[in-house]
Formats: sequence, structure tokens, C-alpha cells
Amino acid sequence: MSADPHKTFYLETFGCQMNVHDSEKVIGTLLHEGYRQVQTVEEAGLVLYNTCSIRDKTEQKVFNRLNDYKKYQKQGKKFGVLGCVAQQEGEKIFERAPYVSLVCGSASYRNLPQMLIQLETGKLEAGKSEAPKPEARSPIRVTGLDDRETEDCFETEFTARSNPHRGYITIIEGCDKFCSYCVVPFTRGKERSRTSESVLAEARQMADLGYTEIQLLGQNVNSYKDPAGDRPGKSGDKKTFAELLAAVGEVPGIRRVRFTTSHPRDFGRDIVEAIDAVPTLCDHVHLPVQSGSDRVLNAMQRLYSREQYLERIAWMKSAKREISITSDIIVGFPGETEEDFAETLSLLEEVGYDAVFSFKYSPRPNTPSLALEDAIPDQEKARRLEILMARQREIQITRYKKYIGTISEVMVEGRNEARAQWIGRTSQNKTLNFTAPEQAAPKVGTYVPVRATVSFPNSLLGELVL
Ligand code: 5AD
Ligand code: SF4
Repeated sequence: MSADPHKTFYLETFGCQMNVHDSEKVIGTLLHEGYRQVQTVEEAGLVLYNTCSIRDKTEQKVFNRLNDYKKYQKQGKKFGVLGCVAQQEGEKIFERAPYVSLVCGSASYRNLPQMLIQLETGKLEAGKSEAPKPEARSPIRVTGLDDRETEDCFETEFTARSNPHRGYITIIEGCDKFCSYCVVPFTRGKERSRTSESVLAEARQMADLGYTEIQLLGQNVNSYKDPAGDRPGKSGDKKTFAELLAAVGEVPGIRRVRFTTSHPRDFGRDIVEAIDAVPTLCDHVHLPVQSGSDRVLNAMQRLYSREQYLERIAWMKSAKREISITSDIIVGFPGETEEDFAETLSLLEEVGYDAVFSFKYSPRPNTPSLALEDAIPDQEKARRLEILMARQREIQITRYKKYIGTISEVMVEGRNEARAQWIGRTSQNKTLNFTAPEQAAPKVGTYVPVRATVSFPNSLLGELVL
């Protein structure tokens, strides 16, 4: 469909990689519906925010942004809230931000084309007695909030990927784990997987288009359950997650396959065996532990013990290639004592992570832990976070140092002109920037060997091996 010059949209994404990729699909859908993407709110007829509500701070950012743009409403722009805040707050968004016309959770994106038509041609919704000033209130209100129990993923052939070399493929949506602190099962809905056949078809199509790196995505990517043969229209051979990984890694033209995020409970040894057997599977696993204390893990309903988690780490440590391991950790969960926290610190030492994303516990709507008293003061959470980050930084300084003098293949991601360096990424997902003589300047998207010469706590610097 050709773009209608009057139908323009601006989309801004908050939050995780799942949201980033959902936005690529939403953008593709809008382009197919005849919209044109613009880079500023000023130019846009339709302004969309794809939102995140994982912690209170991320959610507040969204509402601040919505308030920022209240002024544009007078120019006849339409506003839409997509993603996790949309699903979590639902129609309450219309009360907090009355100029919003569209509220849509991620499980309803399949219905976006119809919603866009409604938005364009929409009937006026019957006014409510407490309606705010007419000029501030959108006359049209379209919602997509009722699909969290769906069996289907949002599959589209129109995904507008932002990078021509590496791209995401969603293999599983939603989450059935219900960790006691987490809002995701409520915002993204029930766990549902795509058929391996459809995932592989997308991987082959990407390879044909010149993509060389694929990242398989899911809230719990390794909880993947191939629905092949389960229902009419779901044909093909069933594959386990490890088999699917291997099959994507064997697609001709694909040089790197990553997957995120893995849940320790469903992390089988067969994943490590697949990494051993298929060289294109990257030697990096993000395996969030959340806490090193069994008592806290139990209260978080994480469904594994410290010992079981460490067993999975041991599998990875016995792999043929060194697998880089990264994690997420929450500090200050209700009831976390100094001893519990000390166990998290000791786990950092025991595992030796290459990166840790750490967060202060934030009570979230609907979650089971909301009923627990959030008794640890923010100051104490901040103190624990600081200690944890300082400890992890020391660990990383030591870990990154040992790469000095080694040669790794990097994918060239770009150029930092100010530093006269190329930006590279290793299979282990480490940033390895490098210098190269002008006559040997590499192309973005290619793979080149780089020798590391300097280490930092979060990255390496090196030189192109000629
Ligand atoms: N408070 C703090 N951190 C949280 N996370 C998820 N929910 C919360 C919460 N309520 C963190 C977890 C998860 C990461 C994506 O965000 O560490 O792995
Ligand atoms: Fe949230 Fe737990 Fe599901 Fe991850 S596994 S999305 S932390 S409920």
C-alpha cells in the first residue's frame, strides 16, 4: 500500500528487547496500512508510545512523557499507548491522559489494522459526566485489552527491522511463571509459542535478505514449546528449544544466534550441548538468578534453589567453549536480610558473571508480593545496590583483563568517529572496540578478527588483526 501523506506516525519505545521488536512489527504494520513514519512528534498525526511497567520508575517515565505532550493535542494529533503500561492500566489511562485515543496491550497487536481503521473513522464515544474540558479530551477511544488468554503470537510479514545485519525473532510470547514480584504475566498474558516451522521460515527469509545474526526472543525463551501438530494449521515436526536453536544456527548464511531471556528452571543441559555442537550458537547465556538466597528465591517463587542454579552454571562451565554468563538481580525484596544479601554477593563470586543488571525491588500492581510489606527503606535498597554493583565491577575488572592479548572475531557494529574507533561485538556479547589502518577500514556488518589490548570493566579495546 502506498503511503498517504496525511497519515504520519511517530513511535517511541520504552523497555526491553521484546518491546523493541514489538515496535518493529507495529511499525511494519502501520507502514503496510499506508502510514509514513516520522522522526518527531511535531510532524506526526499519530503519536505512539510502546511502554514498559516492569518497575515503578519505568512506568512513571511513560506518564511524564504523556504529560509532556499534552500541549500537542490542540494540533489535532492522536495519541496511543501500547505495551505493558497500556495493558496494566487499561481504560484508567483515559482518565490520567484524556487526550489519548488508543490503548492497546501487546497481546492485541494482531488486531492493530482494525483498530487503526476505527481510529481513523471512529465514532464518538458517549461522553461521561466527569469528562474533562472538551479540547483536552479525545473524541475517539479505541482499546485492545482483552486478548491475554490468546493462543496466538503476533506474526507479521511486515516487520520493519531497524538493523540490516542482525535482527530479532520472537519465538514465545507471554509468561506463565508468575514470579511474585513480576508484572509481566499480567501485562503480556499467557505463554504461547510459535511453531518451529514458522520460526525457521522467518530465519531463512532473514538470511536471504542478508542478515547474519539472529536473536531469538521470549520472556522465557527456553520455556519454548513447539505447538506443531497441536491444532489445525499448526503442522510440522515438534522441536525442543535446543533443537530449534540448533536448526536456526544451521540456516545457511546465519553466523550468529543468540537467545534471551532464559529461565533457570527450564534451562536444560541440552542447551549447552547444542552450543557445543553448533559453532554459530553464541557462547553467551543470560540466566537471571534474582537472588543468591534460597529463602528469598522461595519467596520470589522462582521455582529453583541456589544449588540448582549453580548446577546449571556448572554445565555451562564444562562446555567446550568458554560460555559468558550474565544475570539480573533484585535487591531489597521484602524480608531480604543482611544474610540473604550476603548470599547474593557470594553467588557473584561463585559464578563470575560478565555483566549483571541489578535493580531495587519495586512493588508492582497485581503481583503476589504486593501483599508483602515493602519494609526495606529505599536508602537501604540503594546501599545494597551500590555494594552489589561495586563488587561486580571488581569481578568484571579481573574477568575482562584476562582477554588482553587474545584474538576474537567481532561483528563490526559501527564507527565511533570521536574516538577514531570501530565498534565491535564478540560472540560472547562483549563490546570489543578496535582501531584499524585507514586502508583496511572494515565494513559495518562484517566479521573481522581483533586482538584485545586494553581492558575496562565493561568492554575491551583492541586492534584489527591484519
Ligand atoms: N522490581 C525490581 N526489579 C524487577 N524486575 C522484574 N520485576 C521487578 C520488580 N518488581 C527485574 C528482574 C527481571 C528484570 C527484567 O527486571 O530482575 O529479570
Ligand atoms: Fe517476570 Fe518471572 Fe515471568 Fe521473568 S519468569 S517475566 S521475572 S514472572
